[in-house]
Amino acid sequence: MPTLLHIDSSPLYDRSVSRELTGAFVAQWKASHPDGKVVDRDLNSTELPPINAAWVGAVYTPEEAQTPEQKKLLALSDSLVAELEQADEYVIGVPMHNFGVPSVLKLWIDQISRVGKTFSYANGTPKGLIIGKKATFIIATGGIYDAQTQMASLNFVEPYLRSLFGFLGLTEATFLTAGGTMALNHGQDRNTFLAPHLQAVQTHAVAAQGGQA
Ligand SMILES: Cc1cc2nc3c(=O)[nH]c(=O)nc-3n(C[C@H](O)[C@H](O)[C@H](O)COP(=O)(O)O)c2cc1C
Repeated sequence: MPTLLHIDSSPLYDRSVSRELTGAFVAQWKASHPDGKVVDRDLNSTELPPINAAWVGAVYTPEEAQTPEQKKLLALSDSLVAELEQADEYVIGVPMHNFGVPSVLKLWIDQISRVGKTFSYANGTPKGLIIGKKATFIIATGGIYDAQTQMASLNFVEPYLRSLFGFLGLTEATFLTAGGTMALNHGQDRNTFLAPHLQAVQTHAVAAQGGQA
């Protein structure tokens, strides 16, 4: 049974563009995988503590030597890593906040970037351990950061996510961006704004399953 891990990180829920677009991806994925399972991980309703010295100490303690307290400290991280390992595919909604990823997404990344579990330095060189997965990142930005424009250098969302997930071993990643959502605050009709982005998500979701849009 194929599994899709669906992650959202916008605090805006019903008003969120990234949430609406990941929702459309999930709907298409379900249609293509009637026997599939979707795991929803809403980072705005998950308690994600910042990592601290005790957490780092636990991570670098060999599993067989970990105390019950250390195991408890790592329980959330273990379960979030397991979600990544158990899914075949990911769709991740990302609003741009202050030119980067939202804080809840960074807190999640800190929990899932685990030496020995999602990456290793076993031979002195980094090796990603998240292998054989497909990911779709759906980004929403208030401004427009198209490549070749002056604004592009201010976009730390896509380059960061490409680097981080590449480091963790992900080789099949698609980035779809809905840029210019601030137009919605200036009176642009939401359906008109969303239509081409919903179409792009639909086309990608169908193509990613080997079908035709
Ligand atoms: C706290 C906050 C910070 C933001 N920072 C930026 C920014 O640096 N650049 C930008 O283009 N838009 C910025 N925006 C606008 C969002 O990127 C935009 O509203 C986008 O649609 C968010 O995705 P969402 O609709 O899924 O929440 C910011 C919005 C919020 C709430």
